[in-house]
Amino acid sequence: MNNKYTALSHSEQNSLLRFDKENVWHPYTSMSDPLPSYLVDSAQGVTINLASGEQLIDGMSSWWSVLHGYNHPKLNAALQEQAAKMSHVMFGGLTHQSAITLCEKLIRLTPRGLEKVFLSDSGSVSVEVAMKMALQYQHAVAAKNKTSLTKTKLLTVKNGYHGDTFAAMSVCDPVTGMHQIFEQVLMQHYFAPAPSIKLGEQWVEDEVSELETLFKQHHSDIAAFIIEPIVQGTGGMRFYHPEYLKTCRKLCDQFDVLLIVDEIATGFGRTGKLFACEWADISPDIMCLGKTLTGGYITLAATLCTTHIAQTISEGEAGCFMHGPTFMGNALACAVANASIDLLFENDWQTQVVGIEQTLNTLLLPLAKHERVKDTRVLGSIGAVECLQSVNVAQIQKRFVELGVWIRPFGTLIYIIPPLVINTAELSKLIDAIATVLNEDDCFN
Ligand SMILES: Cc1ncc(COP(=O)(O)O)c(C=O)c1O
Repeated sequence: MNNKYTALSHSEQNSLLRFDKENVWHPYTSMSDPLPSYLVDSAQGVTINLASGEQLIDGMSSWWSVLHGYNHPKLNAALQEQAAKMSHVMFGGLTHQSAITLCEKLIRLTPRGLEKVFLSDSGSVSVEVAMKMALQYQHAVAAKNKTSLTKTKLLTVKNGYHGDTFAAMSVCDPVTGMHQIFEQVLMQHYFAPAPSIKLGEQWVEDEVSELETLFKQHHSDIAAFIIEPIVQGTGGMRFYHPEYLKTCRKLCDQFDVLLIVDEIATGFGRTGKLFACEWADISPDIMCLGKTLTGGYITLAATLCTTHIAQTISEGEAGCFMHGPTFMGNALACAVANASIDLLFENDWQTQVVGIEQTLNTLLLPLAKHERVKDTRVLGSIGAVECLQSVNVAQIQKRFVELGVWIRPFGTLIYIIPPLVINTAELSKLIDAIATVLNEDDCFN
């Protein structure tokens, strides 16, 4: 039997899902005992249409990336116009208007001083690029000063997440970040305790004492400090005090260490500021952007740096920055990124985020009273319910689908980060679904 969302019969759906289960890797999922995957037919606005007929309100923005909803006419038009001209040309020796316009926008919108843009394929790659930039910069500085190169390590904080490629993994949390498995091959870096004072709490100087000690003891080995600004996302949706980020900037200046800020999850309005750095009024030396850059349409990332870094690298031994992905500056991705950034302002993103935040404050924060809940927190368009027990992913996911929502919790955390175009009724439905599953024992381990 067919439904209005798909031309696929039941048996076609089943055979697709069977093949998927047997042959297709999904993120962080066993191939021998995989979690179920739901077959999507289409998506429109904030609704994901399953081939099986259910319509789900999207609470995840496809892992933080969708801003203006799915299947948006203006974003579709930008893609079509670009595709009619060309979808991609190599970026070595060639350039094009969509990439140039995007880089102009990024330089204009990001914190002061970031004036050179390196486009790449994904968030993880932009972190690789940022780390390589910092290391190549220090190499060039040492050569210029005729000193031996010692600044070859990174400093970061525990609980961080910067991606799944090897350099990015080496600065992810040492316990939850897969370090045990890859210990022998991962670069070794320095880790400070995770920031513990929350945004909105009283600041206490002691918070940064271990961080200061690490800077003092090891600065001659450290090329750069990398951190997710204000929100440690995958590390548990922890919102930390802006004073911490301010101190990072001060210590980096004091000890001649570059500051890399990973805005891949926080960029483009998510936290209530266009970039989370603005909470602390700081500018990094290097910034990574991804996820929302194309409004969730196509993978694209950017690493921005200062003119000083770009010049130093370019005047170094290699004479250029040693990186160049095949799909660098992909025209389709740049065109849709331009359209997405324009929409952000046309739609008045600040009003959208404030509206979401108010509803989250009113309806999601009170879930803290539930006996299964340890804490609830809200920042901008991010709402998190931290539970006392870990969730049973397969069961809770099934229940969310039955309740008409798409929410994918991990560990003890049920969080939502909806597209900015969600309305109050849709957002309430997401929160109601969370309230419902909190009462269901089989959704928890
Ligand atoms: C802060 C942060 N950095 C980097 C990444 C990696 O980005 P990608 O998955 O596009 O490689 C993520 C992804 O969740 C992220 O949240």
